[in-house]
Amino acid sequence: MASKKKASKTKRQRKLPFDKYDLYLNAVQSPEGDVQFYRDRYKEFFGAPKKGLTLREDFCAGGAISCEWVKLHKDNTSCGLDLDDEPMNYGRANYIAKLKPEQQRRVALIKKNVLEKGLPKAHIAAATNFSYYIFRDRKTLTTYFKNVYSSVHSKGLFIVDMFGGTACTDASQDRIPIRSGFTYYWEQKDFDPATNYANFGIHFRYKGKLYKNVFTYEWRMWSIPEIKEIMLEAGFDDVAIYWEGSKRDGSGNGKFDRVTEGEACLSWIAYVIGIKK
Ligand SMILES: C[S@@+](CC[C@H](N)C(=O)[O-])C[C@H]1O[C@@H](n2cnc3c(N)ncnc32)[C@H](O)[C@@H]1O
Repeated sequence: MASKKKASKTKRQRKLPFDKYDLYLNAVQSPEGDVQFYRDRYKEFFGAPKKGLTLREDFCAGGAISCEWVKLHKDNTSCGLDLDDEPMNYGRANYIAKLKPEQQRRVALIKKNVLEKGLPKAHIAAATNFSYYIFRDRKTLTTYFKNVYSSVHSKGLFIVDMFGGTACTDASQDRIPIRSGFTYYWEQKDFDPATNYANFGIHFRYKGKLYKNVFTYEWRMWSIPEIKEIMLEAGFDDVAIYWEGSKRDGSGNGKFDRVTEGEACLSWIAYVIGIKK
């Protein structure tokens, strides 16, 4: 009996080795909700599209959102851009490979720096999970936003997410147990009010072992008015803000409503959308 137990444990461990991208997907991403939000915003601004839409997922890593986009409508196409082969190869093997063959033909992951000119054309460009915070000065961020503006079709959207709040001006750590059986830690290591630079780390506790700094980020904490101004400077005709609602306990409820005013709080998440008419 004892040896059988041991055998099955060993088997399970071999079947589920530590997979940082799978844990990241489970802990951090919600690609199904993301693509529905993008489609709904497109309809809100431009009406129901007559044919499929192209999504470009900037900073795509494994391209989980690009894969959801082609599932959403039979004529949708998507492309993800990233600098790093490792997450893109992971996405090709683990996300794209699981799509139906005809869906696979409508998605591509491309190695490209989003700061280079000539980004692939799209109806919607999205930069999620705050990836563009990597650009820590206004000149570089403006270069990126101008690239997006010139690559988005007329009747197009540029969707970015943002986070902030008073909790983000100090070191802190969130510990979040994930239903599929591991713990996710989001650590803000520091904050420099002279530059708004902050360092972050993602740690996981998986099968009893703590994996520290599996992903790290050296970001600038941008503010909503800065992002709005830079989008307008890049050429977008208008900018809309969507603020996350809250549950009774004050935590975010994952639902976003259009607002003209935010709410001072410890921590918030919002989408900012550049509209090209
Ligand atoms: C935080 S991860 C991706 C997050 C993912 N989009 C999500 O929703 O969770 C950031 C990714 O951006 C990529 N990246 C960083 N700088 C880039 C650049 N200039 N152009 C394209 N990709 C870049 C990195 O290689 C990395 O895979």
